[in-house]
Parts: sequence; structure tokens; C-alpha cells
Amino acid sequence: MDVFILDTKEEIGQKAGKIYVDFVKAKPNAVMGFATGITPIPTYNYMAEECAKGNVSFSQMTTFNLDEYCDLPKEHKNSFYMFMMDNLFSKIDVKPENINFLDGNAPDWQAESKRYADAIINAGGIDVQFLGIGRNGHIGFNEPAEEFTDEAFKVKLTDSTIEANSIYFDDIAMPRYAMTMGIGSIMRAKKIVFVATGKAKAEAVKEMIKGEVTPHCPASILQKHNDVTVFLDKDAASLL
Ligand code: GLP
Repeated sequence: MDVFILDTKEEIGQKAGKIYVDFVKAKPNAVMGFATGITPIPTYNYMAEECAKGNVSFSQMTTFNLDEYCDLPKEHKNSFYMFMMDNLFSKIDVKPENINFLDGNAPDWQAESKRYADAIINAGGIDVQFLGIGRNGHIGFNEPAEEFTDEAFKVKLTDSTIEANSIYFDDIAMPRYAMTMGIGSIMRAKKIVFVATGKAKAEAVKEMIKGEVTPHCPASILQKHNDVTVFLDKDAASLL
């Protein structure tokens, strides 16, 4: 795990974004994994700026996102699909047919999990996966559990996660379930770029980096991955 502690979210966005930009410049048909939330936005802003300047093209890139709410229309303003469209995909030249999401409204989540796993394999595997972390140490929507998961699955969201995200739902109740890539899916990415900022993540970051590898802190599994680059601000790193 290479850990970098930087001063500002913008600096982190430039460093993490440069990894994404440089990787796609070197491999234009790269398969890149994305996450949602506040944390990735500076990284996505950097990627969009570089594309607008003509320094990189994402026209051959294939994307896979970590997770998506269940029981929420794909075009609802709070879907993770719309988050990605608003914060990155509408600002770069990625092709719509190359954008992949788990379908949170699929009638059979196990069939959907296999479809997604097959799509990732058919694309050649994920080259680089962006990860944030929840306050309880979740990655994607892999909540603290008694065992590590493997492929994508349907998850009942914890009260902590519902509390942290309910503020964004002002027209309908926040979904109680989501579809998420499993820990196995995430760990099969060739490279992981992890970002955490703010004091609220300090405890989870400490457990992720220094704690026991345990499904009670799903992010701790990253200690067993051979290529993880971690970007933290001083607040998120304050307990290390
Ligand atoms: C959600 C997402 C995670 C994300 C986490 C933290 O639970 N499913 O992928 O890492 O929130 O979000 P934020 O970056 O807004 O703190």
C-alpha cells in the first residue's frame, strides 16, 4: 500500500486524476472502475479538465461502477448512474455503450450479478478501480459483515449508510437496498486508487491500514492487494 498524505482535496484530485489520465493515455481502451460520493469529485474534475484541454481522450475507455441503488429509476437525480453522468461522463468523450452499471432494478439479482461478472471478464478485467470508504469501513456497499463477499450481490443498507446518504433524498424515501460489486470483484482489479478525506473517515482509515484484516472492516482487505495507492488529507490520516 503506497500512502500519500496531501494538504488539499484539490491536490488529491490532481494526483489521483493523473493516475487515471496517464493510464488511459498509455492504454486508450483501458477498463476503468469508478465510485460515487463526494470524495471522487475532485478527481473527476481533473479528468474532465484534461479531456477538455485535449490532453487525453476517453473515447475507447470502458467503465464499470461499484454500486447502484435498488428500487430507484436509473434516471432519478440520486441514482449513481446520474451522479456519474453529472460529475464525469457528460464532461468527457466516453461512449455511452462503454458505460457499465449494475442494474438495481433487475428482477433477479443473482442473474444480474453473473451478467456483471461476465461483462467485466469479457472486457478483460478492471485495470484501475477507484475506491472511497464509508464511515463504517464499507467499500462500495460492502458493509461490515461476518465474511468477505465475492461477486456482486444485493445488500440491505445499514442505518449508518442510510443516515449518511438520506440527506440527498428530498422527493422520495432513500432506497433500503443496493447492488454492489463484491469484495472479490474489487480485489480482482489490477490496481486500486483509494481516496479518503475528512475526520469522519479517520477511524475507518486507521482500521483499513493498521487494523486486523477482517470483514468487520471490509476496507481492511486492501492490505492484501498488491497495488493500492492511497491518497489522504491530514484529517483522514490523523489516527495513523
Ligand atoms: C457510499 C458509496 C461508497 C462511497 C461512500 C463514501 O456508501 N457506496 O462507494 O465510498 O458512500 O462516500 P463519500 O465519498 O461521499 O464520503
